[in-house]
Amino acid sequence: MYTTELSKTKQVQNLEDPDKLAAFEARVAADEFIEPKDWMPEAYRRTLTRQISQHAHSEIVGMLPEGNWIGRAPSLRRKAILLAKVQDEAGHGLYLYSAAETLGTSRQEMIEALHSGKAKYSTIFNYPTLTWADIGAIGWLVDGAAIMNQVPLQRTSYGPYARAMVRVCKEESFHQRQGYEIMMAMCAGSADQKRMAQDALNRWWWPSLMMFGPPDADSPNTAQSMRWRIKRETNDELRQKFVDITKPQADALGLTVPDPALRWNADKGGHDYGEVDWEEFYAVVRGEGPVAKERIKARRDAWEQGAWVRDAAAAYAEKHSRRKEAA
Ligand SMILES: [Fe+2]
Ligand SMILES: [Fe+2]
Repeated sequence: MYTTELSKTKQVQNLEDPDKLAAFEARVAADEFIEPKDWMPEAYRRTLTRQISQHAHSEIVGMLPEGNWIGRAPSLRRKAILLAKVQDEAGHGLYLYSAAETLGTSRQEMIEALHSGKAKYSTIFNYPTLTWADIGAIGWLVDGAAIMNQVPLQRTSYGPYARAMVRVCKEESFHQRQGYEIMMAMCAGSADQKRMAQDALNRWWWPSLMMFGPPDADSPNTAQSMRWRIKRETNDELRQKFVDITKPQADALGLTVPDPALRWNADKGGHDYGEVDWEEFYAVVRGEGPVAKERIKARRDAWEQGAWVRDAAAAYAEKHSRRKEAA
C-alpha cells in the first residue's frame, strides 16, 4: 500500500511545472504557511487530504469507545467530564473535516470513503473498552500520544490544518489530565481498583505505541512529508518522546509498563524499549481489529439515522433562498 502511494507521488511530481514547484518549496522551507488558494503540487494536496481526513475520521470514530461509558461512569461528576471530553472530539472532527474540505474534497466524499473502508482511521479505536479503568488509560495514553503527534502539527505547512491544531491541542491537554486523574483515583483505591488500572495499562500500552505509525525505515512517505513540513518529526522520534514522558508517569502511579525490555539508557538520554508487534499493527490497519466492524457499523447507522436532519436543513436552506429570490 505504502509503495504504491509513493510511486504515484513520484509520477505526479514529475508532471508539475518546475518553476512553480521550486517557488512552492522555497516558501515551505522559509516556514511560510500554504493557504487554500495558493498553488500547491498535486502530491502535496493529496497527501494532506489523506492525512487530515484520516485524522478527522479518527476523532469521530474515537468518540465511540468512550461514548460507550458515559452512561456507566461511576458518578455524576465523571459523567459530566467524560461527556465534555467526547463532545470535544466531535468538535475536533468538525474542524478537521473543514480544513480538509479547503483542499477540494467534500465532506460527503470523505465520509463515504470512511464507510466503504477505503479511508483509514487510527488503529487504536479498533480495541474494545472493557472496564472503567480503560477510560482512564485512554485519556492518559491515547490522548497523551495524540498530543505528542499533534503539538508539532501546529507548525505544519498547511495553514488551515496548523490553525485547527492550535485549538485541538489545548483541549487534548485537558483530555490527558482527566485520564491520568482517573488512573490516580483508581491507583489510590482498593486492591481491585489498582488491579483494574494495571490491566488497562497492560492492554493499552502497545496499541498506544502503534499510534505513531510504522518504524521510520518502513515509512517511505516520511521523507517527503518532512521535506514539505507536513510532518515535523518522524514516527520513531515521537514514539521515543512518548515512552520517555510516560514511563515516569506510570512509576508515579505505582504501575508497571508491560515491557520487560524497558530501561533507561544514559548514553542516549532516553529509554530503550521492546519491539512493537508490527504484525498486529498491520492486521488492525487492514481492518482486522477486535471491534473494527462494530465501529464502522456504528458510524454508518449514525449517518443513516441522521439523514432526516440533513434533508431538513437542505430543505430549509432551499426554502430560504427561494424566498430571498422572490423578495
Ligand atoms: Fe481529539
Ligand atoms: Fe482527545
